[in-house]
Amino acid sequence: MASTERPLFIPVILGTPRQGRRSAHPAHLVLEETRKRAGVETQLIDVRSLHMRLDDAGEEMKDPAFSETVERADALILIVPEYNHGYPGLLKHALDMNLKEYIHKAVGLCGVSAGPFGGTRVIEHLLPVMRELGLVTTFTDVNFSNVGKIFSENGELLDQSFVRRVNSFLDELLWMARVLRHGRENIAPQ
Ligand SMILES: Cc1cc2nc3c(=O)[nH]c(=O)nc-3n(C[C@H](O)[C@H](O)[C@H](O)COP(=O)(O)O)c2cc1C
Repeated sequence: MASTERPLFIPVILGTPRQGRRSAHPAHLVLEETRKRAGVETQLIDVRSLHMRLDDAGEEMKDPAFSETVERADALILIVPEYNHGYPGLLKHALDMNLKEYIHKAVGLCGVSAGPFGGTRVIEHLLPVMRELGLVTTFTDVNFSNVGKIFSENGELLDQSFVRRVNSFLDELLWMARVLRHGRENIAPQ
């Protein structure tokens, strides 16, 4: 990145409010690895902290702070546990609060599961949702299979191969984020 270029902003969304959620551990690993990248700013967005109502849906219940964060973002990273082969309902409820803020921005997906499939099924189910929101997916995911073995109870990383996996994922996501920012800022829509 040229030193004069403004930093990319890539928030990490922790996609479950569950008490005792193991997904918090991958979220913090990805956040820390993203923070180490030159020319990148990040922050954690916890779905627990977003202002959401249960008697409404969509842009009618926009959370201004969340919308501003997504508007500023060049890319998003979603940390998503697999719940009955799908995504947590509260994550979808949260994502639905914005629309134009996502358009032609990159998104990287990290699946989390207690079992051996690493959230591959939840990632497949998220792809059409990402497309409808206007987000552009990378093809490098991170699959945190058997999450209870990758991290200790208190979040210590037990399998160092995930540092490399997360960084391969970030390599593609950062490239995509730069390409799409260039396009949004320099190439007029047809
Ligand atoms: C409602 C619910 C449904 C789940 N369904 C699946 C599933 O379909 N496949 C799977 O591998 N794990 C499933 N799990 C286990 C999660 O993968 C496990 O809790 C893992 O630690 C990630 O979720 P967490 O962040 O909530 O801890 C489910 C957990 C919950 C709470």
